[in-house]
Amino acid sequence: MGATRGLFITLEGVEGAGKTTAMDTIASHVRDLAMVPLVTREPGGTEVGESIRRILLDHADDAMCPETEALLMFAARAEHINKVILPALERGECVLCDRFTDATYAYQGAARALGYERIGALEQWVQGELRPDLTLVLDLPVSVGRGRAGERSAPDRFEQEQDTFFEQVRQSYLERAAADPGRMKVVDASQDPDSVARALRHILDHWLVAGN
Ligand SMILES: Nc1ncnc2c1ncn2[C@@H]1O[C@H](COP(=O)(O)OP(=O)(O)O)[C@@H](O)[C@H]1O
Ligand SMILES: [Mg+2]
Repeated sequence: MGATRGLFITLEGVEGAGKTTAMDTIASHVRDLAMVPLVTREPGGTEVGESIRRILLDHADDAMCPETEALLMFAARAEHINKVILPALERGECVLCDRFTDATYAYQGAARALGYERIGALEQWVQGELRPDLTLVLDLPVSVGRGRAGERSAPDRFEQEQDTFFEQVRQSYLERAAADPGRMKVVDASQDPDSVARALRHILDHWLVAGN
């Protein structure tokens, strides 16, 4: 990536961790820092991507193969990268994405047991050199996230999975964050919303000062 491009920040965590809630905090902090935020999400973020999102989350496809699931995630991602993310980065904006490839490693690679190697091959093929500059992992016990998400709406195809599935997702995020601490920062998302927001602002400030 060229030196003049914007910043690519992603948010990760199990359902109900508070990603969508945290987006507002991060977007307003980014504005305070005189950058232009572009808030988007995966799977989705484009017309084709949102159609793929419906296929992925709908119950009509309960028996979908893990391979199909991973390929659909990357199909939506290819569209998103080329139509939204790269153009925004080239304009110098700060792209804030609710889930990205770390979620594919965690959900399809770990919890669906496809393995990291195959996800890595697709990552390389679809993304080339593009990786998030910073990834904020909102970490909390699965049962707490489930309790929060349960109050929201009927469970989608992922949300209906058992706790063991989400434990694997959580462990994958934590393992990968421990292996890549420069990029992936873990936040205790079980705290109250104000404390989570403060922790996020603190990380952003330190990370920007450190020269990312
Ligand atoms: N720190 C928090 N403490 C308690 N409830 C929270 C917190 N953060 C978010 N929530 C609530 O939990 C639910 C899920 O949050 P959301 O941001 O939609 O999570 P996600 O996008 O990660 O699935 C929402 O109802 C939200 O208001
Ligand atoms: Mg959300």
